[in-house]
Amino acid sequence: MENIKSILNPNKRVGVLTGAGISHESGIPTFRGAGGYWKEYKAEELATPQAFQKDPRLVWEWYDYRRGVCAKAQPNPAHEVVYKMETYFSDFLLITQNVDGLHRRAGNQKILEIHGNIFTARCTSCSNQFSLGNEALKEIPLKCERCGSLTRPHIVWFGESYDTDLLDRCYSFLASCDVLFVIGTSGQVSVPVYMAQYSVSKGAYCIEVNPEESTVSHFANQLLKGKAGDILPKLWEELTN
Ligand code: OAD
Ligand code: ZN
Repeated sequence: MENIKSILNPNKRVGVLTGAGISHESGIPTFRGAGGYWKEYKAEELATPQAFQKDPRLVWEWYDYRRGVCAKAQPNPAHEVVYKMETYFSDFLLITQNVDGLHRRAGNQKILEIHGNIFTARCTSCSNQFSLGNEALKEIPLKCERCGSLTRPHIVWFGESYDTDLLDRCYSFLASCDVLFVIGTSGQVSVPVYMAQYSVSKGAYCIEVNPEESTVSHFANQLLKGKAGDILPKLWEELTN
């Protein structure tokens, strides 16, 4: 902790990269842990363009259910600390794989949602993109109001490419980051892991927060083993008192 205190001061450029684990204590199941199933399906079976092509109704039903879970969930003490970080450090960026919207609800504005957002949908043929709100859909699968085509969740599915503009913004921040927190990700998806590796290769000090080891642990400078909702408030208390 002393070590962390000495490298974290308000003038530092601090990045935070989050995964599903940070929202676990808000009651949102992680993807690969227990509870990562819906009916008999795993996330990897539904979050793909192939699954959507085959059965758009099924995929929309799953997202409608998950959006309901996210709408009812509340940001937890770990999200609150990540918001405090944004106000404390002069240079800050939050990169999240989460689509649940909890970081924004906790107050974060300097945020890039690299896997999209579950409260947003877009048309599969025209440029229409729109907000879904918190209520269950009345029509599944949902059609575009503008052109009548099928719409889809605004989410990056397995096998799809990332928004290159978003990636550029992440990498340009990570190229000169002093400290990078990696919180609650298993590191099974390669792009976020590569981002962390890149930042470390450019000199960032990487602090991981996770109750388990991940694919990030072997190159992180420090693993704070435990739940984000326990570890982060303690760390923040020590840092700011
Ligand atoms: P995973 O479900 O793969 O991993 C969750 C991680 O959170 C694991 O390493 C857990 O040990 C850790 N964890 C569990 N409880 C925690 C807690 N209370 N505090 C801190 N960590 C905790 O989720 P992601 O790594 O986010 O993609 O998965 C990456 C992507 O795969 C997701 O963004 C999603 C999925 O397919 C899309 O939706 C496009
Ligand atoms: Zn349309």
